[in-house]
Amino acid sequence: MCGIIGYAGDECAVPIIVDGLKKLEYRGYDSAGIAIFDGGGFNVVKQKGRLAALEEKLENTSLCGNMGIGHTRWATHGEPSDVNSHPHLGSGSKIAVVHNGIIENYKQLKARLERRGITFASQTDSEVVAQLAEYYYKGDLLDAVIKTANALEGSYALGIMCLEEPDVLIAVKKDNPLIVGVSQNANFIASDVPAILKHTNQVYYLEDKEIAVLTKNGVEFFNTDKEPLTKQIETITWSVDSAEKGGYPHFMLKEIMEQPKVLRDTIQTEITKLPDISQFNKIVITACGSAYNAGVVSKYVFERLCRFPSIEVDLASEFRYKDACVDEKTLVILVSQSGETADTIAAMREAKSKGAVTLSIVNVVGSTLAKEADYTVYTAAGPEIAVATTKAFSTQLAVLYKLAVKFAVDLQKISQEEAKTLSDEIATIPDKVAEILTHIDFIQKYASTCIGYKSIFFIGRNIDYAIALEGSLKLKEISYIHSEAYAGGELKHGTISLVEEDTLVVAISCCQRLYPKIFSNMEQVISRGAKVFLVSNAAEAEEHDKLSLLKLPDIHELFSPSLSAIVLQLFSYYVAANKGCDIDKPRNLAKSVTVE
Ligand code: G6P
Repeated sequence: MCGIIGYAGDECAVPIIVDGLKKLEYRGYDSAGIAIFDGGGFNVVKQKGRLAALEEKLENTSLCGNMGIGHTRWATHGEPSDVNSHPHLGSGSKIAVVHNGIIENYKQLKARLERRGITFASQTDSEVVAQLAEYYYKGDLLDAVIKTANALEGSYALGIMCLEEPDVLIAVKKDNPLIVGVSQNANFIASDVPAILKHTNQVYYLEDKEIAVLTKNGVEFFNTDKEPLTKQIETITWSVDSAEKGGYPHFMLKEIMEQPKVLRDTIQTEITKLPDISQFNKIVITACGSAYNAGVVSKYVFERLCRFPSIEVDLASEFRYKDACVDEKTLVILVSQSGETADTIAAMREAKSKGAVTLSIVNVVGSTLAKEADYTVYTAAGPEIAVATTKAFSTQLAVLYKLAVKFAVDLQKISQEEAKTLSDEIATIPDKVAEILTHIDFIQKYASTCIGYKSIFFIGRNIDYAIALEGSLKLKEISYIHSEAYAGGELKHGTISLVEEDTLVVAISCCQRLYPKIFSNMEQVISRGAKVFLVSNAAEAEEHDKLSLLKLPDIHELFSPSLSAIVLQLFSYYVAANKGCDIDKPRNLAKSVTVE
């Protein structure tokens, strides 16, 4: 989704803002722009397409100034175009605004302003913010921002500058993330930490309707009654290097390779505060995208270990609107890398409003889900930049396994000894992942033969099916090859009609009990001309000569998705790399989907 960066300091703002925008590219965008206050007025440069195109445009200007705002736009209202890009100016060019979110009442506001003779330049909902702030501006930008914030419905993170107050940059947010970074010589606003990590690790997280007033010398906070607020500064522990590619061609590959370390960090971190599981009669796990797939995997683990009467997994976008049957006897687990996914946040609020207890599993410290959930467990994946998640997904699985073991003990479904055996097995995951990463050449070579497929199917049974869902999602996200995942047992109920000569089927088989079943599925597709890539730890697999095999290390069946996931990530990565795809920023996708 859109990315915001703002700078107030002593240096030329342009390279700092452009660099910040580069760090926000991972969020997904289709155009970008920058507004600099250059002493005389606002200089605005906007460009549809990649940041490189904006940089090229900027090279032909002598743009400089010590204060500015920049934006990467992911279009919602109005096509991607130069004019619809941010920053937007009021029609008197007095106010410049960058916005992330959706202004739901923009049509009404626009009509009101148009009736007063104000003309709009773009088709966006965001322009209404600039026009409204300019309309309200009567010599005090803070007043104008308060009035504007009070008039807006929907979600927003805003960076606002005013020609008549050239030292001031104001930020305000509602239902969209925005942070304020402070350093000795400059202050910043940003959608996300990586944008400013190079300059400071001291940040304030803005809460809804809190307003930050920045100058180069300091930051003040106010509520919408203009009362000053005291906020807690937080220190970011992520290293600057963690947001850089570190010699890898793509962030995705770097993040795949980091998995042994981040898994170790996550597994070794003790989970301290949890609700008493015995007070619940239902668990609902809800999330979006890969985080949802982690939830699907964990359902098998919770079910098997906890023998809990009711465990559901729901897409957050479905959960929020279905009038879910949850109450104070329900534990709702929300899984999210960013902690800012709009649907997952809405699901959490819906669950809370019905009295359910919420537990979030989140990677980004200080994010909305982390703050608002009743309980939070952090994954230690560090900053994840590639749009397609890898290391965050793996660490989510690790936390979910640990939770399942802990709950199983508390529910007296397993003994302390059994829990110890399971925990020891979980602790072996990082080393086994490292072992799989040594097969990178084989996977790269195999993937290079797969770029011609129009469609690739993934099959598995039980927990292998759950991880097949993630393998399929990963592939389509970054390689643009159509892909679907099926439970092996469902093949004969329709999917097999899609299998023909030279179809590729990726089979996952790590459930001992089900080897014969998935093997017979493979035979069925092979006999219809399909090629099979098998990811398995079965000894029998090595005897099969009609397939390509990636043999996994042995591990308890319930934790095997942590190993097969690595192969599937590398497979997708190398298919996409061989196709020359823009791996870290796949088309139309965003890292963090902060609007509905
Ligand atoms: C987007 C990302 C996915 C991610 C999903 C949920 O679609 O591209 O990689 O799984 O959002 O994001 P979250 O931050 O809630 O885990």
